[in-house]
Amino acid sequence: MQNHIVKLDGGDTTVIVIVRVSPHAEILYWGSRLAEVDPDFIDTLTYPVPNGRIDVTAPLTLSPEQGRGMFSSPGLEGHRRGQDWAPIFTATSHQHHEDDGRLLIHCVDDIAKLTLDVELRLDPDSGVLGCRHHLGNQGEASYSLQRFAVTLPLPDRAAELMAFHGRWLQEFQTHRLAIPYGGYLQESRRGRHHEYFPAMIAGTPHFTETRGEVWGAHLAWSGDHRIRIDTKSDGRRFLQAEALYQAGEIEIAGDATHATPWLYASYGAEGLNAMSERLHRFVRAELLQFPVETQRPVQLNIWEGVYFDHDPAYIMRMAEAAQRLGIERFIVDDGWFRGRADDHAGLGDWYLDETKYPQGLTPVVEHVHRLGMQFGLWFEPEMVNPDSDLFRAHPDWVLGLAGYDQPTGRHQYALDLCNPEVFDYLLERLDTLLAEYSIDYVKWDMNRDLIQASHLGQASSHAQTERLYALFGELRKRHPATEFESCASGGGRIDYGILRYVQRFWASDSNDALERQHIQRGMSYFFPPEVMGAHVGAERCHSSLRRHDLGFRALTALPGHMGAELDPLTLSEQQFEQLRHYISLHKEWRALLHSGRSVRLETADADRLQAQAVIGDEAAIVIVAQLATPSWAMNEALRIPYLHPSKRYRVTVLDRPEAARDGSHTMRYQVPWMAQESIEATGAWLSEAGLRLPQMDPESALLIKLEAI
Ligand code: DGJ
Repeated sequence: MQNHIVKLDGGDTTVIVIVRVSPHAEILYWGSRLAEVDPDFIDTLTYPVPNGRIDVTAPLTLSPEQGRGMFSSPGLEGHRRGQDWAPIFTATSHQHHEDDGRLLIHCVDDIAKLTLDVELRLDPDSGVLGCRHHLGNQGEASYSLQRFAVTLPLPDRAAELMAFHGRWLQEFQTHRLAIPYGGYLQESRRGRHHEYFPAMIAGTPHFTETRGEVWGAHLAWSGDHRIRIDTKSDGRRFLQAEALYQAGEIEIAGDATHATPWLYASYGAEGLNAMSERLHRFVRAELLQFPVETQRPVQLNIWEGVYFDHDPAYIMRMAEAAQRLGIERFIVDDGWFRGRADDHAGLGDWYLDETKYPQGLTPVVEHVHRLGMQFGLWFEPEMVNPDSDLFRAHPDWVLGLAGYDQPTGRHQYALDLCNPEVFDYLLERLDTLLAEYSIDYVKWDMNRDLIQASHLGQASSHAQTERLYALFGELRKRHPATEFESCASGGGRIDYGILRYVQRFWASDSNDALERQHIQRGMSYFFPPEVMGAHVGAERCHSSLRRHDLGFRALTALPGHMGAELDPLTLSEQQFEQLRHYISLHKEWRALLHSGRSVRLETADADRLQAQAVIGDEAAIVIVAQLATPSWAMNEALRIPYLHPSKRYRVTVLDRPEAARDGSHTMRYQVPWMAQESIEATGAWLSEAGLRLPQMDPESALLIKLEAI
C-alpha cells in the first residue's frame, strides 16, 4: 500500500486525511470546504524537527502511538500480561466509499498481534464527522485494555475552549477558557453525566454564536467518559474522547474485538450556530428515529401534580382536564407499582399496585385512549430498592462488589444488567407490561450514580451501558410503535449514544423557567428542540420555590417538545384558558419549531437578555427572554440573522408580557412598532440593523413571528 490523500466533502466541510503505510491515518485538514486539492499541496504542511527532541516529529494520528515518540496522551493503552503495551500500527489497506463519505483503514501490529480498524465518516449532507476505532486481538491470551480513544487534531488557531458543567437541576451550564498549557480534561465516573456532558468545543479566540471558527465534538456514549483538549509543547492541539474504563474492565479475548463509541464532530466557519446547525441536521437525519413521523405530541406528566398519591378516579379526571387543555399524551409517572408509597420502596417490583389501582390500570389507559390521547408510563428498570420483593428474593442481583457495602442513592441500588437473569427479568416485565396496557410511551428514568459497578467482581460500568443499549434495542424491536424518553434525575443521560433508542430527553428536573432558559440554551448546542422535553410547571416552581407568570413558563417550554407538569384540576379558570392558549400556540408553530433552523441570538446585555429563533423558509419564530432587570432604561435592538436578506418580513408580536405596553410601571411609551398590529422590514434590515425590543420586567418573555410576504 502507498500513501494516499483522501478528500472527504460533506456540507460546507472538507476533511483531508493522509493514509500512510506507517504511521497510519492523520487528519491534515478539517475546515471549510475546499474545491481543489492537489496531493502535492500537502507538502506545505509537513512538520519540521526541532532540536532538543527526538529526530522525527511523531504524527498526530487518529490514534497517537507512544512507541513512535508521541508523548502526549496516547490513543491506546493496554497490555497482554505486561507485554505488547506500546503497539505501533501499519496500515495494510483502506477503502474510501465516496457515496456515503466513509473511510475505513485497516492497520496491524504483527508483533503485538493487534489490529486497529479506523472508521471515519464525513456525513455528505451535514458535514458532521464521525470516527470510531476497533481493536482486534489476534493473540491467544486476552489483551487488557486500559484506554482506547478517538483523537482529532485541532488547528493551531483553536486557542479557546468551551465545555459543559452542571449538576442536578442545573444541567448544561457552559464555561470558557483559553486552552491552557498541557490541556484541559473532564471525566465522568458516575454512570451518568449531569456534571460533565461528554462534549467540548474549541475555537478561534472569542468565538461567538455568529463569528469565529469552532470545532465541537461529542462522544456518543451514556456511560463513563473522559474528554480533553490538549496543547502540546510543540504547539499542536487535539481533542481526544473515550469511554472511561476502570481497572481490569476490558479484557479482549483472542480473536475478539472491542470498539470505541462514535465521536461526532462538527466544524463551524461562522461560530457556534453554524456548528449546531450541522449537528441538528445530522441528528434529524441519522440518529433520531420516530416510530411514526408525526408532530411531537404535547404531554401532560402527572409527577409534580400528584407525586406518589395515585387515585385512579382522580387521575382520570386529570386526563379529562388534560384533554380539554389540548394535551395529546398523558403520562402516569412514578408511584403506580407495588410498594411504591414513596421513594423508599418498590423499585424492581414491576407489577401494578393493586391497592392503588383495584380495578387495574386498564380503565385508566382506556380512558386516556378514549379521550384521544396517547398513554405513557414511567419506569426505572435499572434500579432496585432494598425494600422490595425483588431485592429480598435476589440480593445478589445488585450491581456491586460482593462482600463490600455501598451507599444507596435515593434509597436504591442499581441492578447488574450483565447478569442474564436480571436482563431477562427486566425484558420480560417491560415486554409484558407494554403489551398488556398498550403503552405508547415509556419515560425511562435512572436516579442514582453507579458505584462499584461490577459483574462477578470485575468492573463492568462499560458493559452495563452496553447491556442497557441491548435492553432498549430488544424492547424497540418488540414494540416498534412505542416511544421512549431518556431521563436520569432530569438531564443525567442525554447523549447521541442513547438517542439511537429514544426520541425525547427530560432536560432537567427543574421546571423553573429561569433555570430552564440556561439549561435549554446549553443543551441546544448539540440537540435540536424537538428532543428537548420542556414542561410548564406550577406557578411556584417545586425545585426552586420561585414564582413565574404563566407567560414566562409557557414561552420557555414552547420551542421544545412541550408539555405540562402540574395538576390541571387545580388551575383557576383563567390559568386553564391561558395554558390552553399556549398549547394551541405551540401546536400552530411546532411544525416550524421542530424542523427549522434553531439558533441562539446574540444580545448586548447577554447576562440579562437571552434570545433564540427558529427560522424556516417562509417564517420564523423569535423568543426573547428577559432574565434579569435590563441594564439600561431602553432595551436594545435585537439582530436576527439567517433570514433571507432580500425577502420582506411582516413582524408581529404573538405574545408579550403584561408590562410590555405603554404606560406600564417602567415605561411611559414602549417601542412604537409594537403599538401597531405589525411592522415590515427586509431580512437584511432585521439582521443588520435589528428590531428594538420593548423594556421588559425580569423573568418575562416575548414571542414574535416573522412571515415572509
Ligand atoms: C426523577 C425524574 O427526573 C422526575 O421527572 C420523576 O420522574 C421522578 N424521578 C420520579 O421518581
